[in-house]
Amino acid sequence: MESVQAIKQRFGIIGNAPALNRAIEKAIQVAPTDISVLVTGESGVGKESIPKIIHQLSHRKHNKYIAVNCGAIPEGTIDSELFGHEKGAFTGASQTRAGYFEVADGGTIFLDEVGELPLTTQVRLLRVLENGEFLKVGSSKVQKTNVRIVAATNVNMFEAIEKEKFREDLFYRLSTVDINLPPLRERQEDIHLLFRKFASDFALKYKMPTVKLSDNAIQLLLKYRWSGNIRQLRNIAEQLSVLEQNRTITSEILRSYLPDSVRTNLPAVIKTSKSESDFSSEREILYKVLFDMKSDLNDLKKLTLELMKNGNTKDVEKKNESLIQKIYGDDSNEDTDYEESLDTDTEVLSIPEHTIEKDDIAPTTDKYHFAEEIEEEETLSLQHKELELIKKSLERHQGKRKLAAAELGISERTLYRKIKQYDL
Ligand SMILES: Nc1ncnc2c1ncn2[C@@H]1O[C@H](COP(=O)(O)OP(=O)(O)O)[C@@H](O)[C@H]1O
Ligand SMILES: [Mg+2]
Repeated sequence: MESVQAIKQRFGIIGNAPALNRAIEKAIQVAPTDISVLVTGESGVGKESIPKIIHQLSHRKHNKYIAVNCGAIPEGTIDSELFGHEKGAFTGASQTRAGYFEVADGGTIFLDEVGELPLTTQVRLLRVLENGEFLKVGSSKVQKTNVRIVAATNVNMFEAIEKEKFREDLFYRLSTVDINLPPLRERQEDIHLLFRKFASDFALKYKMPTVKLSDNAIQLLLKYRWSGNIRQLRNIAEQLSVLEQNRTITSEILRSYLPDSVRTNLPAVIKTSKSESDFSSEREILYKVLFDMKSDLNDLKKLTLELMKNGNTKDVEKKNESLIQKIYGDDSNEDTDYEESLDTDTEVLSIPEHTIEKDDIAPTTDKYHFAEEIEEEETLSLQHKELELIKKSLERHQGKRKLAAAELGISERTLYRKIKQYDL
């Protein structure tokens, strides 16, 4: 049998809290059986890895594993998604279609947010759990399937049963074994460990030095409530990694990233109304705006350097027509540019590559067609100028980067990168 440690490594699970280890141990134990498992725990605690472990360690591992988010499928189509439908069963059913229970025969189905299943679907599910039988929507032909069910929920199932939103018999059928994952605030020993792991992952992803927490910030991290659990911690680590120029995070800075509601590890009845996807799309737009600003700043720097090098403004103006147009030029144009770029999802991720990796004064922003206009020679001489400026400024300030950066009008982080780049 694989050890808990080996499983953690294989599935990228970080942490050493006893309750986490117990949950993984339970998953390992029940995996070879066909016992139904209910994974419980707040949103963001890492429930999704449990059914994956169970499937991978079972004799079903060579067959299908299907994860279904019961809360995300409209009530009208969920029966057909799960059990399939017969041609003509409803308007638009032009073909007979196999459902997940047919496709995953011999494998495992993970029913996430199972508490959201409509009552009619619960009846069908109970039947398939009891004797492996189901009917396609619009069909009277009984079909057989052999599927193992692992379900998960972040709602209080007893409450749901009380309110007659969930069938009691189905609940007991689903939860032969209960695997509970503790909230992050009850895993004190893991919080900083997880933060460091995420910080180092994002440093790699965004090609920046890793953010570190000051002692006070660590204290704040430990006493914060983390109602969004590991998902929230990961988001905060990502925001800090991308947005903070100073790579040592103080408690003041950290506090500004933590939602106001409840900052301490005290019981609270706060429910966040925004879903994770709302947050992540807002965040993406924010990153996009910031990266755009950075790109504009780089363009401005380039212009300024050209002006310094070549006093003749007319010449510079002519040579950089398109650039000037972009920075100062007509607003209507800018608007469309912005909307267009918001359309492409990948943009956000591709921008850091050229803003961070490549040389600041000659970024290859294909989008604005000026990379082609800069001749290699010019780039080199610009780099030379920049190197000289940085060197002089550092000398003037006895190597104090903060002062030099302020004088040069660039961030400390940029200066840090340049020092590395030019091997100063
Ligand atoms: N122990 C852990 N180590 C590393 N990452 C984790 C851990 N637990 C959760 N995560 C990450 O946190 C996020 C939320 O986990 P998820 O399983 O989707 O939570 P849930 O299903 O309980 O809401 C995912 O990005 C997941 O990879
Ligand atoms: Mg989930």
